[in-house]
Amino acid sequence: MRLLSTPGGGNRGEISGSKLRSGMMYLLFLLSFVMFCHGCPEKCRCVSQTVKCQNINLNAIPQSLPNNTEVLFVTGNYISGLGMDSFPTRLELLTDLYLSGNEIESVDAKTFENLPNLVRLDLSDNKILNFSEGAFPHDSKLQVFNLSNSFHNHTFMDVVLGFLQSENLHQLTVLDLSNNDLVILPDDIFSNLPHLVNLSLQNSSIISIPNGTFKVPMLHDLDLRDNSFRNLPTTILEQINLKPGLHMRLAGNPWRCDCFIEDMLLWLKNTTQIIDRQDLTCAVPEALRQRPLLHLEQSQLKCPGDMEGVLETSYVFLGLVLALIGVIFLLVLYLNRKGIKRWIYNIRDACRDHMEGYHYRYEINSDPRLANLSINSDV
Ligand SMILES: *[C@@H]1O[C@H](CO)[C@@H](O)[C@H](O)[C@H]1NC(C)=O
Ligand SMILES: *[C@@H]1O[C@H](CO)[C@@H](O)[C@H](O)[C@H]1NC(C)=O
Ligand SMILES: *[C@@H]1O[C@H](CO)[C@@H](O)[C@H](O)[C@H]1NC(C)=O
Ligand SMILES: *[C@@H]1O[C@H](CO)[C@@H](O)[C@H](O)[C@H]1NC(C)=O
Ligand SMILES: *[C@@H]1O[C@H](CO)[C@@H](O)[C@H](O)[C@H]1NC(C)=O
Ligand SMILES: *[C@@H]1O[C@H](CO)[C@@H](O)[C@H](O)[C@H]1NC(C)=O
Ligand SMILES: *[C@@H]1O[C@H](CO)[C@@H](O)[C@H](O)[C@H]1NC(C)=O
Ligand SMILES: *[C@@H]1O[C@H](CO)[C@@H](O)[C@H](O)[C@H]1NC(C)=O
Repeated sequence: MRLLSTPGGGNRGEISGSKLRSGMMYLLFLLSFVMFCHGCPEKCRCVSQTVKCQNINLNAIPQSLPNNTEVLFVTGNYISGLGMDSFPTRLELLTDLYLSGNEIESVDAKTFENLPNLVRLDLSDNKILNFSEGAFPHDSKLQVFNLSNSFHNHTFMDVVLGFLQSENLHQLTVLDLSNNDLVILPDDIFSNLPHLVNLSLQNSSIISIPNGTFKVPMLHDLDLRDNSFRNLPTTILEQINLKPGLHMRLAGNPWRCDCFIEDMLLWLKNTTQIIDRQDLTCAVPEALRQRPLLHLEQSQLKCPGDMEGVLETSYVFLGLVLALIGVIFLLVLYLNRKGIKRWIYNIRDACRDHMEGYHYRYEINSDPRLANLSINSDV
């Protein structure tokens, strides 16, 4: 295109020159045509049918891609959004598209309409806020989809992930949703992915497995490492048992090793479906921290309501406090020993005076002759 726009020349040429010029023009036109169809975009590298436009500060997908491109890398650039105009010409042969590390925020409707044979798509390491449900064509052939660390944050996640339920991704077999702050997933999030085989939800802050996950008919590998699971309820264990072809990874979760984990522990010792069961360790209580779940004895699993241990420590503490108070009391006594001695003498003297007075009065009272006198003198 750029070649086409070069000026055709001035008016000072001779007749023979003009003929030559028109021939040159034709050649240039042909060349630019070939460039448009098969040429490599500026600053990109093209080898065979692979085009690589990596880390060259692009802010859009290059428009003039060779129409026979099979593999396209546009990674490490600054493309803020994808839409209908990202792939204006049909690329029948494109199967692999790598767009990681581009700060992509939105993927609009019909973005992949012109890529009918797309099989592998990598959108990892972006900041997606908005993903249109109509981004993929109805008969999409996508099989491997990488959305690792792709989303901006977990706000509106159920809305953002709506495209997974759009019924357009019937061929999808591998889905990588790792390193996203997903937290909670809608129950039926994977229900329209009938061919899903490998699903990674590693490091995604998940606290419970979406209900519908076990209904995905062909699911074979489920990676749930480094999430926020503390226990697996019996209902989940039963569902896993009912799907013997399913294999899971569960290491790196903060397992809570109290009496509630007993069922899971018994199950874990007998199952082969948890590939990394050797690596599961307790996070709480402190006494069992880092202890492998498989090496736990039933007697080590205390219930939170079980006060045995708590009481034991509180008795020891109480004893210590009492001993301390006793020591302080003795110390105070010792330091004040002179004052106390004086005080005791004073009391003794006071007592003695009092006793003498009492004694005297008793003697008077006991004398019936003086009784009336004493009563009168008291008044
Ligand atoms: C690429 O474009 C050229 C010229 O229009 C056409 O002949 C060729 O068939 C196209 N190739 C593909 C794979 O579409
Ligand atoms: C997502 O895109 C739709 C349509 O383009 C728009 O209406 C909506 O406001 C966008 N949402 C966000 C959170 O950007
Ligand atoms: C997805 O991309 C990340 C990094 O961008 C990579 O580590 C991971 O292996 C990819 N996942 C798949 C399934 O290819
Ligand atoms: C998520 O991102 C949006 C848009 O930037 C922002 O308004 C919102 O506060 C963020 N939420 C969290 C929990 O960070
Ligand atoms: C886990 O995911 C978060 C994003 O949610 C990311 O920032 C962090 O680097 C990931 N951790 C690892 C070890 O990949
Ligand atoms: C599925 O995951 C397992 C374990 O991570 C891996 O060995 C296998 O190659 C994956 N299959 C595909 C089709 O990627
Ligand atoms: C899981 O699905 C079943 C029906 O399939 C439903 O009865 C149950 O309430 C669901 N559980 C949760 C936690 O949503
Ligand atoms: C152990 O698992 C097998 C099947 O894998 C099952 O038949 C058996 O009942 C289980 N035993 C216990 C004690 O759960």
